[in-house]
This record gives sequence, C-alpha cells and structure tokens, in this order.
Amino acid sequence: MQVVLEASGLEKVYLSGDNKTHAVREMSLSIGSGESVAITGPSGCGKTTLINLLGLVIRPTQGQLLIDSVDSATLTPKQRARHRNQVFGYVVQDFALIEDLTAYHNVEIPLLYRQKRGRAKDKKGLILAALDQVGLKGKEFVKAKNLSGGERQRVAIARAIVNSPRVILADEPTGSLDSKSAKEIMGLLHSLVHAGKTLVLVTHDQALADQCSRQIRMADGMAVNS
Ligand SMILES: Nc1ncnc2c1ncn2[C@@H]1O[C@H](COP(=O)(O)OP(=O)(O)OP(=O)(O)O)[C@@H](O)[C@H]1O
Ligand SMILES: [Mg+2]
Repeated sequence: MQVVLEASGLEKVYLSGDNKTHAVREMSLSIGSGESVAITGPSGCGKTTLINLLGLVIRPTQGQLLIDSVDSATLTPKQRARHRNQVFGYVVQDFALIEDLTAYHNVEIPLLYRQKRGRAKDKKGLILAALDQVGLKGKEFVKAKNLSGGERQRVAIARAIVNSPRVILADEPTGSLDSKSAKEIMGLLHSLVHAGKTLVLVTHDQALADQCSRQIRMADGMAVNS
C-alpha cells in the first residue's frame, strides 16, 4: 500500500497572550492510500488541530509531515496551496458554507482557484455531478441558508470532492445530524473509499469510527493507541 501521509513527532503549540496550549504532541502516524482512518477522542484533545496539520491548513511547531514521501516543509507556498486544493478535500467542522450562495455556487469555489490555471474543464458538469453524487439533485440553486442541516452537510461534502481529491479529510461530518442522515453521509463517505479515496474522519461517535479500517484515539494531544 502506498503511503500518502506520514507524520513523525508532530507537535502543535498555540500561543495566545500568556496562554500556551500544547494541542498536538508526539504524533507519529502513517496513512496508506485507500485507508479509512478514524480519529477519536474527547472534546479539546486536538483532533481538529491534527487534521488541520495533515491538510496543510496550519504548520507544525515541530516534527515532520511527509505527503507522498515529500517533506511538506519543503513545499513552496504555491505548492502548499495546490496540495490543499487538489490532493485534499476538506469537510471542515462547521461546514463553512457561504450562506447567500446557492449549493451550486458553494461547490464551485474550489474550482475557481483551480480554473486560474485553466485546468477545470466542464466546470458546470463537475459541479452538477458532485451535487448529484451527494443526493442534492433538484436543490442545486437553493441558497445554503435555506437548506436543512443534512443538506448543508452534503453541500460541504460535494465541495470537498468536486476537485477529485485523493484524500478526504472530514471533521465531524455527521456531528449535527440525526442518525438516519448520519448513516447516509457515512454511506457516501465509504462509497468514496470504495472508489479508491483515502478518508481521515474525525468523529465522537464510536459506531462510526468502528466502520473505518483503523482508529487513532487521542487524549490530551497524543495518540493513545493506533
Ligand atoms: N487557533 C487556536 N488558538 C489557540 N488555541 C487553540 C486554537 N485552536 C485550538 N486551540 C486549543 O487547542 C486544543 C485542541 O483543540 P482542537 O480544536 O484541536 O480540539 P478537538 O479535539 O477538535 O475538539 P472538539 O471535539 O471540541 O472539536 C484546545 O484546548 C483548544 O482550545
Ligand atoms: Mg474539533
């Protein structure tokens, strides 16, 4: 199995005023292509911080992160941005939809960055296919603020997959959903894994974690098993 993400000794310390929070410590892990890995642990243990490190959203205070065997510290800002846009599809914890935009226009956002380099062919087709894939046919032109929680979650997933990323990072993608919608969203994420994607899923829900091929349990910034 090809290793996509390999972290060794990752540390993240947040400094704000006199406050120092050691959010991630001594984190070493290796994630292979096509794996589904659940990150679990209590609130505040560092799960979002870890997924932000893996997705190049923030930089580690210490330690090394290899992406496809390339040390992420050696990437230029442009390469980092390209990885964020094309290697990873990130479903963030609070969905972060633009409320006044329609589902269609929210899903378009990652393609706008990509299109600057003239790579997004048939943009409209890609957006409609992503929305169809998450079961939002017929809701394409409804504004995000008028969609239900489950539908908003689907828009966030469509936005994360529209660029055909190899790795899907999903932070509590079912956090605010009832069990039926949660099951559907998880079915969707696992169908992406079956299609060859790699999934890193943050969840509080042990039943969802159990559906993944592997679990990393965190406590106080550290992995307590893997
Ligand atoms: N930008 C930041 N600046 C300062 N401290 C932060 C920042 N982001 C997170 N923290 C702190 O780092 C620790 C880990 O936070 P993180 O968001 O990674 O936890 P989490 O496991 O995702 O929690 P939850 O399950 O509630 O989402 C917490 O103590 C949090 O207050
Ligand atoms: Mg979190």
